[in-house]
Amino acid sequence: MSLDIDKVRSHFPSLASGYIFADNAGGSQVISDVISRISDYLINTNVQLGADYSVGQKSTRRVADGAVTAKELFNASSVDEVAMGASSTLLMDHLTRAMESDVNEGDEFIITGEHESNVGPWKKLAARKGAVIKYWNPKPTLPVNPYSVALAIPDLLPLISFRTRIVAFTACSNILGSIIPVEEVVKAIRERAAKEGTKKLEICVDCVAYAPHRKIDVQKWDVDYCYFSFYKVYGPHVSVLYARAASLHPLTSLVHHFLKVDTLPYKLQPGGPGYEIAYATTAVVPYLLSLSPSNANSLDASFEAIAIHEQQLLKVLLGFLTDPEQVERGVRVVGDEKVGMSRVPTVSFVVTGQRAMKSKDIVKVFDAKDGVGIRYGHFYAYTLIDTLSPKLDVNDGVVRISLVHYNTVDEVERIVDILKEALA
Ligand SMILES: Cc1ncc(COP(=O)(O)O)c(C=O)c1O
Repeated sequence: MSLDIDKVRSHFPSLASGYIFADNAGGSQVISDVISRISDYLINTNVQLGADYSVGQKSTRRVADGAVTAKELFNASSVDEVAMGASSTLLMDHLTRAMESDVNEGDEFIITGEHESNVGPWKKLAARKGAVIKYWNPKPTLPVNPYSVALAIPDLLPLISFRTRIVAFTACSNILGSIIPVEEVVKAIRERAAKEGTKKLEICVDCVAYAPHRKIDVQKWDVDYCYFSFYKVYGPHVSVLYARAASLHPLTSLVHHFLKVDTLPYKLQPGGPGYEIAYATTAVVPYLLSLSPSNANSLDASFEAIAIHEQQLLKVLLGFLTDPEQVERGVRVVGDEKVGMSRVPTVSFVVTGQRAMKSKDIVKVFDAKDGVGIRYGHFYAYTLIDTLSPKLDVNDGVVRISLVHYNTVDEVERIVDILKEALA
């Protein structure tokens, strides 16, 4: 079932300008219902939570509904497994501080060098507690392109030992665009850990670049921690962290000592979320469901329709970048070169060879034209970019064109036209 793209776009007021938003992995555009819920909250229910008067009761319910939305998007078993915070980066900092009393010297953390939110907090916790960091590194998948890197399960398994405490990885890379088969990876990790006699191993998955494109399912995946940011999923600037109930118990509470938190995720929320923002997230699920074919009405069906549309966008963009003429020119896709359901339309590339170009200079051509937003850099996946070989200037990084379901094939063709000019 294909998306009704005009209907889709009518939900996003900013798209009416005709500007081509192609930096969506940085942040997506916002649906109109999110905007109206923010003003509705501020006009009609802007009081402190927890009071017994009627407006107070309504505001409390509205903010609590934000966690219900996150629960649905995570497919968590309870709202008591969802914490909110200003950003994913901040939530990971909270989580790793709260875990301090449940990590021991000599414990091992396996991390990837992807977005720093799932890297730096673990490194800092390891440094505080004397834990050991091990890297699950991506490797090239095509002999002709050294930047065609991907993570592979056989490289991960030998890293697991009886001391492994954490495995932290990214469900979808914000650079490579490739999707990790989370369920399969988690199963393989847990089987190997069982053989090794690992005592307590927890898995933390960054879903920030995944959530706009595919359905998360923390229960099916069997992960302990998972997070994403609503501002990439057509919503406002707030982020959510899933923590499995059993994982929440041993965490140290970060809130005031007199607040009873026990198993509640408030222990990871030192201070409330922005009320109007938490409430505004409740518009996201109804919007996503509106994309589902009427006989299905499920988030799974909505994300399937999104993925099918996005493959058409990918076909045009990757078709151009991997055309023999562009490969001869020196264009190298960074990540998965193939169109397919195992990748999203977040596409990165560099221009190498005798007529190499800086990523910055390609983006400059776009900026000079105005009307299309793309970016260059490391996008906070600093370690990933820094460890690519042959080496790249990490600050110049890659050119990234990141599309979502509201982009059209016409828009991608316009992007390709500008790319042709930039590469000429
Ligand atoms: C893959 C990935 N993880 C984490 C983040 C961090 O999210 P936040 O800005 O909410 O901290 C980003 C932001 O770009 C991201 O792309």
